Formats: sequence, C-alpha cells, structure tokens
Amino acid sequence: MKITFEDISTDSHKYSGDTIVYFASRVDSFSGSLAKADDLSGGAIKIAAAAARFKAKSGQSFEILAPVGLDASRVLVIGIGDEVLTHQEMVELGGGLAAKLLPSGARAAHIVAEGVDAVAVAEGALLRSYRFDKYRTKEPDSKKPTLSEITVGTVDDQAATAFEARRAVVEGVFLTRDLVSEPSNILHPESFADEARKLTEIGIDVEVLGEKEMTKLGMGSLLGVGQGSRRESQLAIMRWNGSDDKDAQPIAFIGKGVTFDTGGISIKPSAGMEQMKWDMGGAGTVVGLMKALAGRKANVNVVATIGLVENMPDGNAQRPGDVVTSMSGQTIEVINTDAEGRLVLADALWYTQDRFKPSQMIDLATLTGAIIVSLGNEHAGIFTDSDDISAGLAKAGYDTGDKVWRLPLHKAYDKQINCDVADMQNVGGKGAGSITAAQFLKRFTNDVPWCHIDIAGTVWSSKDLPLSEKGGTGFGVRMLDKYVADNFEA
Ligand code: BES
Ligand code: MN
Ligand code: ZN
Repeated sequence: MKITFEDISTDSHKYSGDTIVYFASRVDSFSGSLAKADDLSGGAIKIAAAAARFKAKSGQSFEILAPVGLDASRVLVIGIGDEVLTHQEMVELGGGLAAKLLPSGARAAHIVAEGVDAVAVAEGALLRSYRFDKYRTKEPDSKKPTLSEITVGTVDDQAATAFEARRAVVEGVFLTRDLVSEPSNILHPESFADEARKLTEIGIDVEVLGEKEMTKLGMGSLLGVGQGSRRESQLAIMRWNGSDDKDAQPIAFIGKGVTFDTGGISIKPSAGMEQMKWDMGGAGTVVGLMKALAGRKANVNVVATIGLVENMPDGNAQRPGDVVTSMSGQTIEVINTDAEGRLVLADALWYTQDRFKPSQMIDLATLTGAIIVSLGNEHAGIFTDSDDISAGLAKAGYDTGDKVWRLPLHKAYDKQINCDVADMQNVGGKGAGSITAAQFLKRFTNDVPWCHIDIAGTVWSSKDLPLSEKGGTGFGVRMLDKYVADNFEA
C-alpha cells in the first residue's frame, strides 16, 4: 500500500477520479470539507445519510457511488461520534476504512483527515492492508484487493514526517506476520536465522550460534528439544545500540522460536497440528520488534535472543524421562516432550542475562494452550514480580490494542515442578498450566527483573480483526515498541 500525505489547508477538493473519505461527528450539521462536498453535490450526501439511517455514531458509515457535482467515483463517510476518540480508536478507524475499501473496486483513496489524527488513521490503514498471499498462485483478479494507494489530506504539516516512524513500526509488524505465516518447510531454524541476519542491513548486529557452540556453552535443555530434527538448532542474538549512552545497560527480549511443534515423542493429536507452524511466534515478534526499533532509530540499547528449534519425533528424539542439564547447571527431567518451549527459553534466558547483564528481560512465547483457556484470544498473559514492568506493559497494551492481563507468580505454584529425579521437571501436573510454565522460566532468570508474556492466544487469529486480516496478527510489536518508547527513551 502506497501512503502519502497532502496539504489541504487551501483546498480539499482538488481530488479527482477515485474515492474520497470524510469523517462526520454530527449528522444534523456537517462541517468543514464534508459540508462543502454536500453543497457541491446539491445536498446528495445528506440525503444519502438519511437514507442509510446514518447518525454519525462511531462505527457507522455509508457510501455514495458517482455523486453528481463531485469529481469522485465513490464517497465514503465514516461516523466518529461526538466524544473524543483515543489514539488507538483513530488507528482502528483507519483499519476500518481500509477493510471497507480494499476489496471495493476503489484503487486510490483520498482521506480528508478532519476531526481525526491523520498519522493514526494512516497507520491503521497501512496495518490493515497486509495480506499473506505469496502461495496463492491461482487467485482470480476479481478476488484480489483493488486498493493500492492512499493519500491522506491534512492541514498538519508535520504529519508526513511523523508518519515515517510509524511506518517503520508497521514494517516490523509486517515482518512478524510474514514469519508466523510461513510454513515450516520454508521457515525452519536455519532459514529463520537467515531472516534474522538480514537485519544487519538496518544497523543491527546479528550473531548466530549453531549446535557446536551451544554444546560448548552447555545448553543441554535447548539442544534436547531439537535433537530429533534434521534441522540444526540455532540461537540468534541481535543487538541494537541506539542509545546516546553507548554503555547504557540494555533491555533484553527473548523469544521462543519453535519452527514446528509436533510435541515430539509426546506427540500431539493430528487435528489442528498444522497450527504449530506458528509456535515460533515469540521469536517472530522479537525480530519484528527489533526491525521496528532500528527502523525508527530508537534511542535505546536493546539485545534480543531467539531460540530456534524444531520439535520432532525421531529415532534420535528425546524421550519422556530423559534428564537434561541446562546452561545454568540446573537439571530437568523431561516428563513431557511437548512442554518444549520452556526448555528452549531456559537456556536462552540464562545465556542472555549471563552475557549481557540486562536491566530487565522480557520473554515472549506461544507457551501454553492453558493461556487460551484463561484469556481466550483477547489478552496475552503476563507474569512478573515487578509491578513497574506490569504497569508499563499494561499501559502500552491499552494504548496499542495489544492487550495484556497479569496472572500470578507464587512459590506455592513453584512446588508443582519440584522433582524427585532432577532439580525440576518440565510440567507442573494438574491445574495452573500457564503459571507453572512461568514458574519454570523464573528459575532461569537469575533474579534479573523479568516478565514472561504468553502469546499462544494472540499470535494468530481465525477471524478478521480491526487491524489485521485473519492469520498472523503481529501481536506485541506495537505494544513493546510503545513500552520501550515510554520507559527507556523518554
Ligand atoms: N506450543 C504449545 C502451546 C500452544 C498450544 C500454543 C496451543 C498455541 C496453541 C506448547 O509447546 C505446548 O505444547 N504446551 C503444552 C504443555 C503441556 C504439555 C504441559 C500444552 O499447552 O498443552
Ligand atoms: Mn509443545
Ligand atoms: Zn510449543
């Protein structure tokens, strides 16, 4: 989608040809450019509004095709109500108009951004325009979206510049969606590491460790998960040193990158197993976030570590009952090979704090089905001992629509993973499955301030959302970008 800005301080009716979008806060008295357009059309817009029972409420809209007096093949009027909209509501307004116009036949849309934030609307429209269709070779043109160009008319001469930072963040979201959408025959640990390496082009330092290096480091927990796969496990480390203070302690993001999760020897049922291609969503979000931060030249030092493995059953696969030794020295009895994400993160977390001494660590993982039982597909679960991190993420989540909800950590749950054979076991038995998984991770943080985000319910959507078509959502990139901006760049 091509998006440009245009100054409408002298004339908002120089547009011609295709679609014009107006916003209306009241229906009894149109104002600004919409009032002028209504005059030019001889009152047709008002008549159409009445015919469509349009009350200018937020969420309402109507269309007129080829109105006489206006040089436009279509006019779309969107209600915004008379209450103040939040920034995120304006972003979703942009998403809504894009969703309407994308398949409509319109090719170019001129948005008259009066009464709304032009940059927010543009961001939403761009976010909603994403589509993963590279493998659909036979889709007829009549089914493809038509809209390819949006011009945002505004009197704000800073809008175009302000949008460039937002575009960078949206490109991060798109990278995350691309990664979670790719099938696992294409995106496996090595090709995922190649995707991370591409970030060097935008100024990110990237290192990739293979199985030999990880063996030397003693990462028996991560390596055990990948040992049944023909693909080599990888650990990719990305660094963005954008802070004015080059020596400032970094914030760290850690991602679960299981490029396919069969469950291993504790194999999953076949129904729905194809969904486990997006079990690398945590790593995908972290990579998209790094792209966003570097793309907008964020004034912050960030390190990101992603553990990339494929969980397969095989003659060489790990067995239930195996005991592995993690890089931290702690031993783990693998009761269930399907509880593999925590085994990957255990070594990735320990390595990250050990090497980089971050001020805080935030991990993202499609860790448990239980989080979907708790929170459905609306909120991701967050687990932290830090009220500050929790509040910061909750605010960033509210501001960006990537909602999160805090669940408890407590030593009472920690008992559930005690074990007679090793220092701990990788499953907690009955009840509180998402919490016992988080308690497991906590044992590998070495008391560095930390938060775990379980995104199993939010990485993928089976229905269209305000800012994304069904499929990969890119959940978390905009939230964490905001969290970094609010708490580390201020
Ligand atoms: N990747 C899954 C979690 C998951 C399930 C994500 C459904 C998205 C949708 C994870 O590796 C897993 O298999 N977890 C098990 C843990 C159990 C064996 C303790 C689960 O949630 O069933
Ligand atoms: Mn699993
Ligand atoms: Zn998994």
